[in-house]
Amino acid sequence: MNFSASPTSLPRPSSRLSSRFSSRSNLSLSLTGSKARGLFTKASRSVIIPAISAVVMLALFLTASPILAQTSPSTAPAKGALAPYDLRVEYLTNPLGVDTAKPRFFWKNRHSERGQAQTAFELIVSSSPSADTGDLWESGKVTGDSSIQIVYTGKPLASNRTYYWKVRIYDAEDKASPWSEVARFDTGLFSPSDWKGQWIGSDGLLRREFTLPEEPRRARAYIAGLGYYELHLNGRKVGNHVLDPGWTDYKKRVLYATYDVTRLLRKGKNAIGVMLGQGWYKSRALMFELYIEDASGNVTEIHSDNSWQTARGPVLEDSIYNGETYDARLEQPGWDRADFAASTGWHQASSAEAPGGVLSSQMMPAIQVIETIVPLTMTNPAPGVYVFDLGQNLSGWAQLRVSGPAGTDIRLRFSELLYDNGLINQENLRSARAEDHYILRGDGTTEVWEPRFTYHGFRYIEVTGFPGTPKFDSVRGRVVHTAVSPTGNFSASTQILNDIQHLILWGQKTNLHSIPTDCCQRDERMGWMGDAQVTAEEAMMNYDMAAFYTNFLRDIRDEQAADGSITDTVPHVWGQRPADPAWGTAYPLIAWYMYQNYGDRRLIEDYYDSLKKYIEFLRSKAENGLLKYSYYGDWVAIEKCPGSLVSTFYYYYDTRVLADMARLINKPAEAQAYDKLTAEIKTAFNREFFDPKTRSYGPTQTANVLPLFAGLATDKERGPAWSELFNDLVYEHDSHLTTGIIGTKYILDVLTSTGNSDLAYDILTKTDFPSYGYMLKNGATTLWEIWQQREGPSMNSHNHPMFGSIGAWFYRALAGINIAADSVAYKKLVIRPQMVRDLSHASGSLNTINGEVGCAWSRGDRQVKLEAVIPVGSEALIYIPVFKLRNLQLTEGGALVFADNQLKASLPGIKNIEQKGGNLMVRVGSGRYTFKLTGE
Ligand code: BGC
Repeated sequence: MNFSASPTSLPRPSSRLSSRFSSRSNLSLSLTGSKARGLFTKASRSVIIPAISAVVMLALFLTASPILAQTSPSTAPAKGALAPYDLRVEYLTNPLGVDTAKPRFFWKNRHSERGQAQTAFELIVSSSPSADTGDLWESGKVTGDSSIQIVYTGKPLASNRTYYWKVRIYDAEDKASPWSEVARFDTGLFSPSDWKGQWIGSDGLLRREFTLPEEPRRARAYIAGLGYYELHLNGRKVGNHVLDPGWTDYKKRVLYATYDVTRLLRKGKNAIGVMLGQGWYKSRALMFELYIEDASGNVTEIHSDNSWQTARGPVLEDSIYNGETYDARLEQPGWDRADFAASTGWHQASSAEAPGGVLSSQMMPAIQVIETIVPLTMTNPAPGVYVFDLGQNLSGWAQLRVSGPAGTDIRLRFSELLYDNGLINQENLRSARAEDHYILRGDGTTEVWEPRFTYHGFRYIEVTGFPGTPKFDSVRGRVVHTAVSPTGNFSASTQILNDIQHLILWGQKTNLHSIPTDCCQRDERMGWMGDAQVTAEEAMMNYDMAAFYTNFLRDIRDEQAADGSITDTVPHVWGQRPADPAWGTAYPLIAWYMYQNYGDRRLIEDYYDSLKKYIEFLRSKAENGLLKYSYYGDWVAIEKCPGSLVSTFYYYYDTRVLADMARLINKPAEAQAYDKLTAEIKTAFNREFFDPKTRSYGPTQTANVLPLFAGLATDKERGPAWSELFNDLVYEHDSHLTTGIIGTKYILDVLTSTGNSDLAYDILTKTDFPSYGYMLKNGATTLWEIWQQREGPSMNSHNHPMFGSIGAWFYRALAGINIAADSVAYKKLVIRPQMVRDLSHASGSLNTINGEVGCAWSRGDRQVKLEAVIPVGSEALIYIPVFKLRNLQLTEGGALVFADNQLKASLPGIKNIEQKGGNLMVRVGSGRYTFKLTGE
């Protein structure tokens, strides 16, 4: 019997472009974490490595060496519980500016044995770097198996302090682990009165000098520079943030960043320089606070006030959509140093109107330059016009290298598309000009420049006005987005799935710009909530989104009106109030996903009242259990279902989630009341939308998918709705989607839950219109906004992450990694890979909040291999399909564990094995397992 292609037929990357893409996913199979990221970066520049990686993959399978890499450090193997690792505070590693009075602690556990768990922990918070004693908090031995969301209950924390902490755990045998390494966190400014300065305006540059009698022992700078700032101290740029601070509704909230500047200051004269750009604020204003402590604890404090000087700088124009113009002849060398002789043009800074919002610490990764890409090609489609192709659609800008006469104006224009004649096509950018200018200093050196206060979404760069002929690396692409860490790896034997994963990853990360954006190229780039909600689950698998969405949820709450309504975009610029219910649902759903993925119960407690207000707002608009208003509904669908059906579906879903939240935080009466409301909505939904004549919810895929997904369909409607969906998919559309972003989000899950993963796979492997493969075939390197291939002035962004929602299905279905229904945060797992059609292997790993989870499987002639990694303290139920095999034999790590329908050996970590409904079901505790099932 042969199930499918054996691993030896692992497809080779086909085209040059797709092989570059595949390199990441192929390599990602066996490597995780920072080590892997280093390799990825190299791989992306090479066309040779992908082919090698395919061979490496093959070797991995043939030699049966671990498919999922060990993530333990390469120190000598210790016995028992190892020291806790990956220590975090409020989801961040050694954060600065923690402005929560009771921050939460997180760590991960390792153990040399399988089937292990933490049974207690001991945590110390200290004001001393050695953290030998906990003068702030000594938790003592606290019984509990949780290593996440541990709330600080020590002495009150003070503003602007550094605290140190460490933790150790006790394992199942009550044996203590070694102490972790000491981690630290810094508090931010807790009280408005900690801000002594005032908002000041600027012509572009701001500076201030001051003298220190001695070298500081500790110094922290707190800065809120609107729209964007770049902070300099003594001639050096401070930190690696760009396009900072994150975008908020400045009338409600302004984010400040915290920097440790101890090493940048010195005894004697010092200078602070700040460049300001306009950003989303469309004006310039600075609030700044510098606290400097000397060895004896004396504090010097410098803040923004009228003693600062301002002048115009080299940035002549800056606009997010239109670009930046920089005249290097106007640079003022030394302006950010103490020995600067201020020329004319400098004058006293005046007070600026306060933006109005509270100052909050930016407790999420900043936007950064993440990687640099050298163009693949340079062409010369017209005299003096050079077009560079980066081979990848991305968000960011170009870095220019040039030398030439002073005053030469080089124009850089950006696009996602090219015309047939090789010139760039900017039609789909609508009113965004996406054009930077660099005017040369002309001092004979190679001038290296990149903009500061704009960004573009592009693959192609057009250069005109270049003195002479550019070299192909005269411009480089700088990839810029919020620096969330990658947490997921997915790979499969069918190359198109890896290519789709590539589209998803690039679409997702390049649309994280302090908020989740709809796109990054045209005159929009807004926090459209519909786009945010459909992609959130996929994002939480592929990236560490905990701090990012914590911030975004607060942004949403900031936009809530007294009547409970929220807005289509957050911060609210475009779209409506109230939001389309399919957009507003981002609020309850992302909050709930935060709980499911990261166990964030405190967030639910803090947000419950506001979420309830939102659901009550929906209720106030409902008529007889139906929510009829809708603006976008199943947005960009090919066959559109009624908006009122979509809105009522979310009314039901949101209410059900609120009921679950109420149960979670011990509000049983409210839970009951909202359960009752969901039941009423369900009845109304079926009465209104299920047509007994056609025996369906309507002639579109989405109309039937939504009630099937949410359990709105009762026994009466479920069968007919499913038949309608199946017929529509298979017979009317030959396994193609006609869904918009809403139906697409749920359809694959519905297919898998009804035992039709094969059909989901058929859909994903299509290459004709409409399909993901169609986008790929037509050159996509990020997801398109619409299924159709359009390149004119109509709505057709070529980097829109919203169809990437299906990325979650890759992990859940193909890699089989699921959180058990009665669990959160990957504490209990169900590993159930869907070994569909000709797929011969798939592999996924997730660096979850509780540690690394992985599953990699392959199948060949009469055999299935499955390797699983389960974190300490977790347990998993693993499904290994037996297909039509008889006389089964299951080995683990080479030892026979199951045959003749019974357990043959008891191995550490394996709790139970039984054969049931076409699967071997193996219950395991933590650890790494290598199963091999054979039979006849
Ligand atoms: C955006 C979307 C958004 C939509 C609202 C578009 O212009 O780009 O992605 O969700 O408007 O329907």
